[in-house]
Amino acid sequence: MIKPKIFIACDTNKISEVKRIINLTRTNKLDIGYKFGLEFFYSKNGRKFISKIKKKKIFLDLKLNDIPATCVAAVKSLRDIKNINYLTLHANAGEETIKAVVKFVKKSNTKIRILLVTVLTSISNSSIKKIGHTKPIIDLVKKQALLAKSSGCHGIVCAGSDLKSIKKIFKGEIITPGIRLKGDSFGDQKRVMGPKESFKNGSTALVMGRSIIKGNIQNNISKLIKELN
Ligand code: C5P
Repeated sequence: MIKPKIFIACDTNKISEVKRIINLTRTNKLDIGYKFGLEFFYSKNGRKFISKIKKKKIFLDLKLNDIPATCVAAVKSLRDIKNINYLTLHANAGEETIKAVVKFVKKSNTKIRILLVTVLTSISNSSIKKIGHTKPIIDLVKKQALLAKSSGCHGIVCAGSDLKSIKKIFKGEIITPGIRLKGDSFGDQKRVMGPKESFKNGSTALVMGRSIIKGNIQNNISKLIKELN
């Protein structure tokens, strides 16, 4: 049986906390990987720690968002970290950057898979207007999915609410953050979904941070397994 794929967001700046998260999330019922974002990657020794993790799926969530030359150079600078499975690039960087990064990754001898980040799960339809967009989020996300497809991205990161539309356009991996276990507070997230519904709507994997790493981690993992059943 295929196990549900979950990336635990290691949103901390402490190596000891990452070690604790890894230890307490061991289970044979889920296919677990670990996501490292800006907080841990920028922390002292964070980068080095990530590079030494063995036998785990590593998702580096740097959401690259710059001109083509800068993003390609940034990916080159990660070359010494051999264990990266996934790296994120923001759709806002534009077609030229996305194509340049995907081309570079595909021609270099690396296992890195590029995930295109669409509109963030913390953004609502009213907040997207404040950054100048006039259309609803879903219209924007559909365009971003087309871009991911035409640029050859390996996967997409999108909110649960966007899954059904994206599924029709993009056939690669679809990874969904903004996941909450029943009763958990949304925090800064606006477009949130439960784990079971998200898989049902088409996610190939989920990203879970606070619902797992806050409070009793082992209990949270058990709760997740129960909700998925
Ligand atoms: O704690 P929570 O489960 O809300 O954390 C979600 C994680 O997913 C964070 O690490 C955040 O950076 C990341 N993320 C997100 N929304 C996106 C892309 C990534 O929340 N669209």
